[in-house]
Amino acid sequence: MAVIISQDEKVFHLQTDEVSYVFQVMENGELEQIYFGKRVHSKEAYRNLTTKERREAMVAWRTDRDYFQPDNIKQEYSSFGKGDFREPAYQVEQENGSRITELKYQSYRLAKGKKRLSELPSAFAENDDVETLEITLLDKLIGLQVVLKYSVFPHQNVIVRSTEFSNQGDEKLNILRALSSQIDLPDSNYDFISFAGSWARERHEVIRRIKSGIQSISSLRTASSHQQNPFILLARPETTEDDGDVFAFNLIYSGNFLDQVEVSQYDTSRVLVGINPEEFSWHLDPSTSFQTPEAVLSFSDHGKNKISQQLADFYQNHLINQRFAKQQRPVLVNNWEATYFDFDEKKLLAIAEKAAELGIELFVLDDGWFGHRDDDTTSLGDWFVDKNKLPDGLSHLSEKVHDLGLKFGLWFEPEMVSFDSDLYRNHPDWMISAPKRIPTPGRNQFVLDFSRDDVVEYIFALMSDRIKESKLDYIKWDMNRYITDAFSNQLPDSDQKELAHRYILGVYKLYQRLIDAFPNVLFESCASGGGRFDLGLMYYAPQAWTSDDTDALERIYIQFGTSYGYPLSTMGAHVSAVPNYQTGRLTSFKTRGDVAFFGDLGYELDITQLSDKEQLQMKDQITFYKKNRELFQFGKFYRIESPFSGDGNVAIWEVVSKDQKQAIAARYQILNKPNPAYLRIYFKGLNPNLKYRINDSEEIFYGDELMNAGYFVHQILNINNPISGSADFSSRLFVAQAVE
Ligand code: GLA
Repeated sequence: MAVIISQDEKVFHLQTDEVSYVFQVMENGELEQIYFGKRVHSKEAYRNLTTKERREAMVAWRTDRDYFQPDNIKQEYSSFGKGDFREPAYQVEQENGSRITELKYQSYRLAKGKKRLSELPSAFAENDDVETLEITLLDKLIGLQVVLKYSVFPHQNVIVRSTEFSNQGDEKLNILRALSSQIDLPDSNYDFISFAGSWARERHEVIRRIKSGIQSISSLRTASSHQQNPFILLARPETTEDDGDVFAFNLIYSGNFLDQVEVSQYDTSRVLVGINPEEFSWHLDPSTSFQTPEAVLSFSDHGKNKISQQLADFYQNHLINQRFAKQQRPVLVNNWEATYFDFDEKKLLAIAEKAAELGIELFVLDDGWFGHRDDDTTSLGDWFVDKNKLPDGLSHLSEKVHDLGLKFGLWFEPEMVSFDSDLYRNHPDWMISAPKRIPTPGRNQFVLDFSRDDVVEYIFALMSDRIKESKLDYIKWDMNRYITDAFSNQLPDSDQKELAHRYILGVYKLYQRLIDAFPNVLFESCASGGGRFDLGLMYYAPQAWTSDDTDALERIYIQFGTSYGYPLSTMGAHVSAVPNYQTGRLTSFKTRGDVAFFGDLGYELDITQLSDKEQLQMKDQITFYKKNRELFQFGKFYRIESPFSGDGNVAIWEVVSKDQKQAIAARYQILNKPNPAYLRIYFKGLNPNLKYRINDSEEIFYGDELMNAGYFVHQILNINNPISGSADFSSRLFVAQAVE
């Protein structure tokens, strides 16, 4: 049973295989959080866990039985203005300007499974093991109803939380903040681990100890952003990959977010997750409601690998489009770094022909196929083929590509518009821009007002035509600038602070419409690389372009960091040319492949220019990848050595098959050291009793030997056979195969 409710309806215990989450209704009708962490037995009441001591100099009030000091209570969904001075989970303003609310428990509802939200991406489950609990709270004075929603996914140790506000009164209300989830932990002995960076260096692990006061990460870019990802961990300081207590928080949302931890005067830690209250408010007229995005909460006492694995399993089964979630993703070639804007049909077909010969399965035509887009100053919004480049049209190219036995994919940037476009000339008011101000360009382009239905409809119609005419199998949906000058020409003046959220709802609407109309099209999301690598888009697009940075070394950091919060099957990973376009670095074809294997493999270089040797290498890589694709995309992922720790000179990771009969570990050396210390690789996740060969070795090893004693790695560099030794920027794969 996932949700246990005490008989007098006072204590609610959400229990997964390994985690408990408990709260109760207090005597005054408000909710008190009791516990979130490793599973405990269910009881009628937890008096010890809710014992309060009267402290001096605090707001307080009494009932017959109890003594309340709101600032000292672990709240379930806190308000502001009645004595809890920590930042609240929500705030609602009345017509008279008052922001004081009091939510009291009314009732609960328990149901099997988890229904999808209607306008937002969300978790889902039909399965009976999953249960959804809804707690209804009411502020009687103003008729504000708040429903706290919890879905319990027992086998992934995940709880999904969200909040729905409804106005059942007569006056107009204004929501000033509406976080999705609040957790009040009883102490503050935690590291706050976030995944931060910038364009081309996304999601590097950042660890800081939490201290008294507020620490947070956020976005105000109307996108989850390259700079901060909505995914955070709170871990006990001694937590390792395989041991220790760790909480995970994420948000199924792609817009402005806030992940905040406030350490109080008594060293409790309040974790708030949701839409960033900056640049947000929502008018809640009588008889209307507002649903927050869903927050994903998880816990493990077995360290960071375990929490990443259970989250990956959860996304695979309860978030990602089930049509694709477990389907092997095609190996692709993308023409962007091969041609940029300079191509014609002949050039593209030469790439496609070579691709087919080398074992590629999907050809993706990137930016530059529409309007008269010969550079990035023009044509966004005019999704009509450029007849100068493709005189016979897209359908002709697509037919040729399909004839080669390849799937055909196309790049769009649906949310954008160029000044130099018919779309802008015909509908200048469709662009987001503040009245009488010169709009701020980003990559020479501007953003369409996706809060408008007519805009979403227009783009839907154009994209649908292109999908039908060229029988598209795949779409790369890009988004290459953040929103500035946030103002919608259609929204009333008083609703302008709704734009950021309404914009994201419009993006979701277009995705959903396209998926409903063309269920077989595979979407890959992209935002100048990894600027919107989030769960909101993952609901629609089963894979995402992890970063514009294709340098193999930089990708080790990016993919390592991303792996904490997201499964391998969601990470687009490509081999590109050297010297690398972003770093100028020279790495071997092997190293580039060995990094890109751990994700959805692709090639993004002019493969018609490869030497015979490189072509052979590429063919071998693709054959090897296809043979092990299930493992590389869906295997259980283990981080073994972090490039973010120590001198950052080495990274080791591994994938293991579900039946534990196969595993592939990879070791990446950044700079080589002469005459180094002896080295062993300690495998993880193998079956201790099975016997394995490593890279077809003669010697046979028990799983426990490989995990506990390790596997000796030769390092002495043999200049004639660099694969056998260590070198700068080198990589080694260790394929463990169980023997009968
Ligand atoms: C962004 C993407 C790239 C490529 C270009 C095209 O930068 O991240 O992969 O599609 O746009 O303009």
